[in-house]
Amino acid sequence: MSASDDRQRDLIATLDFHVAAGVDVMLDEHPHDRFNEADAPVRAEAPRLETQPAIAETRPRLELPPRGEVATQVPTRTYGQSAAAKPGEAAGDARARAKDVTSLEELEALLAGFDGCPLKFTAKNLVFADGDPTAKLMFIGEAPGADEDRIGKPFMGRSGKLLDRMMAAVGLDRTSAYVTNIVPWRPPGNRNPTPQEVSICKPFIERQIELADPDLIVCLGSPATQAITGTKDGILKARGRFYPYHVAGREIRALATLHPAYLLRQPLQKRLAWRDFRTLRAALDGKA
Ligand code: URA
Repeated sequence: MSASDDRQRDLIATLDFHVAAGVDVMLDEHPHDRFNEADAPVRAEAPRLETQPAIAETRPRLELPPRGEVATQVPTRTYGQSAAAKPGEAAGDARARAKDVTSLEELEALLAGFDGCPLKFTAKNLVFADGDPTAKLMFIGEAPGADEDRIGKPFMGRSGKLLDRMMAAVGLDRTSAYVTNIVPWRPPGNRNPTPQEVSICKPFIERQIELADPDLIVCLGSPATQAITGTKDGILKARGRFYPYHVAGREIRALATLHPAYLLRQPLQKRLAWRDFRTLRAALDGKA
């Protein structure tokens, strides 16, 4: 491997690190020392020391390779570069396209080719779904994390393992449920998806529910509960409740519960989730 290959690999690793940490937009190709710009306002109480050379003059300027060499590695898309120019337009575009697909496979292919959500350009993979799409029960989480992004399936990391244990406690597993998220791409740095990102992706999850046609939905955590049920209540108020959900001319129910990631941080709250999962079991048995 040549020195320039090494340099390119290091540069890409640095960019990967920044994207994973949530720095997902590149404003310029070169770093700026904002403290030392010639036209920076100089505060009266802090006069510039003319006897010292400016920092930028003593430090060699970092020359990056021409843009084209790393362009495929640098996810710098913004709404302005997507197929639809603004979040509102992207959501409208998503709705129009989602209406046209007639199977889950077509929906997945549509999402794979959809450029309207900027998260797509920072994520490694589309995370569409796991489990049995013909199951009558559908779990909906928030957005993929690092493990899901790497593997391309929802709930693969620590919260996924906890979700599996919670399901097993009421006699369920991924062969008896369909599992997905309201947003199918990982937000950089595991931040929460923004309201704009959720609204762009919402037509897709709505169509996914319609095509999977479950009898019961379980919303994991507040963003999924609010996006699916429309409630503005926080999750501690919403959990344990059934909300009506209208799909393809019929009314089904959506049960809100706590997100496994929250339970990993607040293990005492598992007792509340356990109550919700017993309610879920009762509903599946026709007793709630
Ligand atoms: N959290 C989610 O909401 N979804 C996943 O797929 C993983 C973690």
